[in-house]
Amino acid sequence: MNDFIFQSPTRFFFGRGYTDDTGSYLVQAGFKNALLVYGSGSVIKTGTLKRVQDSLESSGVVFVELAGVRPNPEVELVRQGIEIAREQQVDCILAVGGGSVIDCAKAIAFGYYHEGDVWDFFSGKAKPERALPIAVVLTIPAAGSEASSSCVISNDELGQKKGTNGDCFRPAIAVMDPELTFTLPAYQTAAGITDMICHICERFFSGAGSSAVTDRIACALVCAIIDAGKRVMKNPNDYDARADIMWASTLAHNDIAGCGLSAQPSARAGGWESHGMEHELSALDTHITHGAGLAVIMPAWMRYVCSADPQRFVQFARGVFGLEPAGQSQQAMVACAREAIDMLQDFFSSLGMPSRLSEFGIKAEDIDKLVDMLAATKGERFGGFMTLGREDTRAIYESAL
Ligand code: NZQ
Ligand code: ZN
Repeated sequence: MNDFIFQSPTRFFFGRGYTDDTGSYLVQAGFKNALLVYGSGSVIKTGTLKRVQDSLESSGVVFVELAGVRPNPEVELVRQGIEIAREQQVDCILAVGGGSVIDCAKAIAFGYYHEGDVWDFFSGKAKPERALPIAVVLTIPAAGSEASSSCVISNDELGQKKGTNGDCFRPAIAVMDPELTFTLPAYQTAAGITDMICHICERFFSGAGSSAVTDRIACALVCAIIDAGKRVMKNPNDYDARADIMWASTLAHNDIAGCGLSAQPSARAGGWESHGMEHELSALDTHITHGAGLAVIMPAWMRYVCSADPQRFVQFARGVFGLEPAGQSQQAMVACAREAIDMLQDFFSSLGMPSRLSEFGIKAEDIDKLVDMLAATKGERFGGFMTLGREDTRAIYESAL
């Protein structure tokens, strides 16, 4: 096992009805003046926003609002949020929503202390070292942003979608009430399930060794997500299935599924190749849902790289799908790996996820642009499990068309 540094400082309030106590959780943590951030309307329709507002009022927490965060959140709204947070001298940012809203809140939280433009953190000019505290009421299990050290923001002017990392902006509080997710459209539930499985796989296939403990955590999480995913697709109001998925989304991305799998103790495990390739899809077309893009890209990436270390894929095939190779030859192990990849992609398809890029309207002539954008974001060569150059990323995108 490699050395690691792990911190997950978030205080989780997990269960039915906890939404109504959000205000008191903020007060317990010493927050009295919040910037309340939410998305494009689902929390109004479902009544979640009203419940949170009521709980803030009854606990005496003062708040101002920033509405309208879109999926694949845009930097301009972050800039507006920073201005409001400064004018109102808020002491915390409260996100009510999913990864997009939470990431907008995170960027406001660290942009608050920065004298330059907040995009500096995404272009690599600045590194987040200090942030206002963040609280979250999670409405969709997917991105894992409720406990992660990541923040991903789009810049429409530059046609870019970029992430930054920092422990200073891991949320302090996450209210996780599985009943809030009953209202999710099946497509968003499925995209979330896909995303969390990919978060585990990015770490599992880090290319930096293995750890018996973490490997078992990873495979068990994927098994539990697949099992709960099947149940929730049959019955969207299955509380236990919703709860399993919600908790799994957090554990998939708070780094517990990566301990000992990174070459550097302070770095996140994995080269995040599929995420890198998917973020360019959502940058090219901001209507592409992150998890849906991953349902196409990750299996394509896996097929391309599996022969570089088939043993690792056999471990995954065994741990998740109970498969065994028909012998120890390279050929047998690659065949076993490919069977597991097919089973994973079949699972994504069974949820209603796409399996080809053409389903998003992406054409062969878009691939040059995707490859160029990826090289500009990630560098000419990137990746942990296998280093990818332009010829590799082109081949992966082409294989997924
Ligand atoms: O905008 P509203 O109206 O709220 O609707 C949202 C949105 O359309 C809707 N929704 C959320 N909760 C709902 C609901 N609809 C009905 N009932 C509910 N309870 O679902 C849609 C998707 O929401 P979004 O927040 O975009 O989803 P997700 O959590 O998947 O976040 C995706 C974003 O997170 C980034 C992605 O790249 C993408 O920008 N990621 C962030 C990560 C992180 N910070 O750690 C890691 C991930 O790998 C990912 O890159
Ligand atoms: Zn993701």
